[in-house]
Amino acid sequence: MDRLHIQGGVPLSGELEISGAKNAVLPIIVGSLLADSPVTLTNIPHLRDVTTSIELLATIGAAITVDERLSLEIDPRTIHRFEVPYELVKTMRASILVLGPLLSKYGEARVSLPGGCAIGSRPVNIHLDGLRAMGADIQVEKGFIVARADRLQGAHIYMNVVTVTGTENLLMAAVLAKGVTILENAAREPEVNDLANFLNAMGAHIEGIGSSTLRITGVEKLHGVNYRVIPDRIEAGTYLAAAVVTQGDVTLRRVEPTHLESVLLKFEESGAMLDVGDDWIRCDMRGRTIKPVNIVTMPYPAFPTDMQAQFLVMNTLAKGVAHVKETIFENRFMHVPELMRMGANISIDGNVAITQGVDRLVGAQVMATDLRASASLILAGIAAEGETIINRVYHIDRGYERIEEKLSRVGANIQRLAS
Ligand code: EPU
Repeated sequence: MDRLHIQGGVPLSGELEISGAKNAVLPIIVGSLLADSPVTLTNIPHLRDVTTSIELLATIGAAITVDERLSLEIDPRTIHRFEVPYELVKTMRASILVLGPLLSKYGEARVSLPGGCAIGSRPVNIHLDGLRAMGADIQVEKGFIVARADRLQGAHIYMNVVTVTGTENLLMAAVLAKGVTILENAAREPEVNDLANFLNAMGAHIEGIGSSTLRITGVEKLHGVNYRVIPDRIEAGTYLAAAVVTQGDVTLRRVEPTHLESVLLKFEESGAMLDVGDDWIRCDMRGRTIKPVNIVTMPYPAFPTDMQAQFLVMNTLAKGVAHVKETIFENRFMHVPELMRMGANISIDGNVAITQGVDRLVGAQVMATDLRASASLILAGIAAEGETIINRVYHIDRGYERIEEKLSRVGANIQRLAS
């Protein structure tokens, strides 16, 4: 299993390009199956979850071509299987996204039921209840969700929890349903909006994009399209945090600052000097002291859970006390014991992590447990004195494109050790 080896303490300096957004590209790849002709996708990041999504579409029979610049052509016309096995769903929970589109286009789907995962129990009741409201018959048999429908019917659906993939699944089901569907309390994350824009480019009729009420008028068919995926706001936020914890000066290119508003405000509160352009952000932390920032994770446009672990690392090095409250997932502090092994002073009270900043972190052997926890350990490693070795690094490859190459480019001393 690969490990990352980091010699910490180098202030980062230089420019980095941000890749396409993982959480936009996954539903968009799956959504391509709704078209009646080939779809071409660009700005595709090179990530393990993308490879898994391609494998998923190939498993159900789609023809897929990947070119060397990582644009993807997906021809859905050859799809002939409607089952997604446990092996795929256990590798990537987002495989559940295939349920809505398969059901609305082909009238049947068998998708292995995702279990819990490292960050929480993560039920899919809202996905299933929404599809039932649209007329689907859904049973759980031998660990599979078995769904059937003649043609889905538009429905008025209120989702009682804001769910990103739940909104996306129902959106993809509704675009080919008969009549009008209204999704209330819909997630407004930029990745949901990107999927909705992609579906509209294919001929869907979705109104209210970016708001919490989506109105979808079903159409008979969708056509292929050429579509560019949005930049990854969480990758961008992670590299800004890298500039902060190393007291460096980093400029991000090909980023969408408007997707990061709540996060940028928190960076400013932490003492970072930001300069923001149309598609770039500069973060200069040279000679500045990190200030503690209190955070509560909430659905977009509030502060994202996917940036919680990175800000926690910033707080471990800040002058003073900070409270970070996680309200989205019940078990998303698995990085805390590992950070404490590096000298961080953190206590947990329910869903709140309380940090008392220390002057320095010290390198150690640590274990990555999930994607964003891994990112936080890398941040701690590049900030710490001495050597850090991060085990189980495969988690990071799910969501960060060549992170060690990008960080090396701005001066970090980080290598991957294959074992
Ligand atoms: N929930 C329910 N019932 C449901 C669905 C969700 O109770 O049917 C609850 C969840 O248990 C959770 C809350 O609703 O407490 C929000 O979960 P959500 O469904 O929004 O999460 P998700 O769609 O499974 C996506 C991202 C996550 C990101 C969350 C929150 C993708 C592929 N994944 O997950 O990304 O943390 O939204 O923004 O889009 C990551 O990239 O590291 C990651 C975990």
